[in-house]
Amino acid sequence: MLGSGGREHALSWKLAQSRVIAKEGGKLFASPGNPGIAEHAECFDVDVTDHDLVVAFCEEEQIGLVVIGPEAPLVDGLADSLRAEGIAVFGPSKAAAQLEGSKAFTKELCDRADIPTAGYARTTSLEQAVAALNDFEPPYVLKADGLAAGKGVVIAENRKDAEEALADMFGGQFGAAGAEVVIEEFMEGEEASFFALTDGATIVAFGSAQDHKRVGEGDTGPNTGGMGAYSPAPIITPELRAEVIQKIVAPTVRQLADEGTPYSGVLYAGLMLTDEGPKLVEYNCRFGDPECQVLMMRLEDDLADYMLACANNSLASMPRPGFAPDTAMTVVMAAKGYPGTPEKGGAIDLKDAEAGGAKVFHAGTTLDDDGMLRASGGRVLNVTARGADIRAAQDAAYAATKKVDFPSGFYRKDIGWREIARG
Ligand code: AMP
Ligand code: GLY
Repeated sequence: MLGSGGREHALSWKLAQSRVIAKEGGKLFASPGNPGIAEHAECFDVDVTDHDLVVAFCEEEQIGLVVIGPEAPLVDGLADSLRAEGIAVFGPSKAAAQLEGSKAFTKELCDRADIPTAGYARTTSLEQAVAALNDFEPPYVLKADGLAAGKGVVIAENRKDAEEALADMFGGQFGAAGAEVVIEEFMEGEEASFFALTDGATIVAFGSAQDHKRVGEGDTGPNTGGMGAYSPAPIITPELRAEVIQKIVAPTVRQLADEGTPYSGVLYAGLMLTDEGPKLVEYNCRFGDPECQVLMMRLEDDLADYMLACANNSLASMPRPGFAPDTAMTVVMAAKGYPGTPEKGGAIDLKDAEAGGAKVFHAGTTLDDDGMLRASGGRVLNVTARGADIRAAQDAAYAATKKVDFPSGFYRKDIGWREIARG
């Protein structure tokens, strides 16, 4: 397991329950991991940008499957370096990970495969971008082309703000990610996340979720990596799910395979549910964080089985994965200051937060020499619980959250509000 966040803790927790791994006498390693992951895996530190080093470690420990949690090593081609040495990997190749690594790549692929998404223009200079604004109406959606840790998207209400944002982007605000900027038509609707596993040929639906990206209650304030999520997203009905697979996911997987760069791993489609049907907002080439935490809470089957089937091109032989019919919710506890500069080092006492069946995934924690848990990142904990419906899940998640003693932390009190409002 490569990674150190709440997503990787949830994946490690689930993999630790794997019968396949146990049967093979297998062992879980994680790099760099975190104190929560350390309960399930032996943690060590390897620089994931040094592919030779990762390969050497895997060969030495005879690793049977590498799970790459975050997007950066995928976009950097780590999966290719491992596969070249015969090591099985859960995660796409560098070429296929461009779905997340380049907004322009994805928009052009949507054109070639006729996938519904917002109209767009690619621009490579400030002058060109400002001129291209004439073809769009406010609000203007401006995206740095490359990876920008989820911060590369600006929605500008008027032309002046749009021009200023473009100047910042081309001025280097997002580094190399902003050397090209995609301008998009603004789509109206509700957002939802859909997950699919694929080995490049077979596609298996792997759950839905809704995230809460803004830092404040009522979806106000700056964007974050996600302040809480629940699964399933009932707004993605079985009919809509079929439509998303047929019009968006399947043509993407087919197109990439046809072009000689098949996609393998989890494909995360960020969707806008518009009056004209579902449209693609963006693709991610890994599980969502914190969406993964709620998916893992509900997954009833052996995660390792499915990950291996993706890696070994045998997904067609697997039964449909089972998910508990109830609802899971996760509440992100963040350090004060997030998403700006979070306070580091705040003491945490988890108390008996897990007593009622909740699970506290670690996202940004460290253990002191004296055994005290401390905050070490922006998003610190993901308090996750299940219930028969959205209300029960919300009650359970917040009951557990309130037990956690984390004075320098904060959390949104309204995760799930849309679903609750729908009644
Ligand atoms: P992205 O990183 O592409 O997911 O964009 C971040 C957020 O910006 C999305 O979750 C949406 O809320 C919003 N967004 C992105 N593209 C559009 C669009 N074309 N129309 C409306 N909202 C968008
Ligand atoms: N929670 C949003 C993401 O993982 O991209």
